[in-house]
Amino acid sequence: MALNKDFLWGGAVAAHQIEGGWQEGGKGISIADVMTAGDNITKKPRRITDGVLPGENYPNHEASDFYHHYKEDIALLAEMGFKCFRTSIAWTRIFPNCDEEQPNEEGLKFYDNVFDECLKYGIEPIVTLSHFEMPYYMAKHYGGFRNRKCIDFFVKFATVCFDRYKDKVKYWMTFNEINNQADPTPHHLVQEGAILAEEGEDLEYVMYQSAHYELVASALAVKAGHEINPNFKIGCMIAMCPVYPYSCKPDDVLAAQRFMQGKYWYTDVHVKGKYPNWLPKKFERKGWNMDITNEDLSILKEGTVDYIAFSYYMSFAVEANEANPYYDYLEKDFVKNPHVKASDWGWQIDATGLRYALNWFSDRFDVPLMIVENGFGAYDKVEADGTIDDSYRIEYLSNHIKAMIDAVDNEGVNLIGYTMWAPIDIVSASTGEMDKRYGFVYVDKNNAGEGTLNRSKKKSFHWYKQVIATNGQNLV
Ligand code: BG6
Repeated sequence: MALNKDFLWGGAVAAHQIEGGWQEGGKGISIADVMTAGDNITKKPRRITDGVLPGENYPNHEASDFYHHYKEDIALLAEMGFKCFRTSIAWTRIFPNCDEEQPNEEGLKFYDNVFDECLKYGIEPIVTLSHFEMPYYMAKHYGGFRNRKCIDFFVKFATVCFDRYKDKVKYWMTFNEINNQADPTPHHLVQEGAILAEEGEDLEYVMYQSAHYELVASALAVKAGHEINPNFKIGCMIAMCPVYPYSCKPDDVLAAQRFMQGKYWYTDVHVKGKYPNWLPKKFERKGWNMDITNEDLSILKEGTVDYIAFSYYMSFAVEANEANPYYDYLEKDFVKNPHVKASDWGWQIDATGLRYALNWFSDRFDVPLMIVENGFGAYDKVEADGTIDDSYRIEYLSNHIKAMIDAVDNEGVNLIGYTMWAPIDIVSASTGEMDKRYGFVYVDKNNAGEGTLNRSKKKSFHWYKQVIATNGQNLV
């Protein structure tokens, strides 16, 4: 057997994409609640509105209504044999604005119920503390993580959760895909740092400064968590899209290496507790006066993570570009890779890239790895008899699982779990669509928000059940 018998097979979601109930149980408004629906066909992007405005379509308000369906949904996960289920705790259910003295008991109770329901079936809950759903109030009134004060709000939120669920949850992660903001677009800054970009700001500077505060907040949370329960495993969460050189031209190879540095330095800070050498050089070159104190640097050292969780969907390719002489990480420099196909959303499908990613992490960091997202967003068709043949999803997942097993079997990668994204159809984070589906379980709801919210099993539901039952031996 390539995989350990305790291997954590499961699936992953995020509160804002599945729960709905945006105003129930005393919940406050999160940044996801002010994001409108986009559309892949017309290429309409999601917009961030100034508060919740009448007449706009906010898909996360109802999402898949897990808030009211969690028992039914968790029973379906149990039927597939899930060993674990990754979800996030919506920060605004616990601290609706971020700066309250006391947490919201009704919000805490909701997650007690969810975790108890998982544990009833022997499913281990795995929890992300912050998954693109920081309080809108924090962004609006404090400027999000560009403000050092927000470190305290996060640490308080984390500590309340650690304390409350210390006997129910062992695996935690702090900030989901903290490195998505490497290319600091306003959308990325809102999702990752809850920062509403202001006119004329240097977004790159804002990103590095606020990412520093987030990394300090993460390290403080790791320290606090270990004090509350020394058995906790607290990880970081990195969006891994390997960047390949477009050609073997030396400048392309260097560009790819520099892009990997630009996208993955967050992992160095989380795991090694220090900045890589190239970053202080960059701050100097830019003439930025960074607020990074000696005390911060000690905190980063003391609060290193126990494992690396990462998502993997696709790979990128880059060509050296004279207009980018320092090889700063900018997504506009990416080029299409002619050797791989892409999904309907243009995401390049590359199972070998997952094996590459596992080896890349394994060579650099001596901590266990967990794949906490990997999946295939696609348009699904419900046949007249109600069945859904999503063989394309099975093909994507089985190729990636095969690559993952090869990395463990052949290269000795220390991998402890795999939670595919997302076992139940949910709202897409990038486009706000329901019709970009990832699930084994179909949710009857479309982009316009119409549907019964009924759940039904796709072909892949039965496939994943036997993947888990055979510990990844039977992938067909
Ligand atoms: C990851 C996020 O980036 O990718 C998830 O952590 C997201 O929240 C997933 O849903 C898939 O992306 P999308 O845009 O297809 O939902």
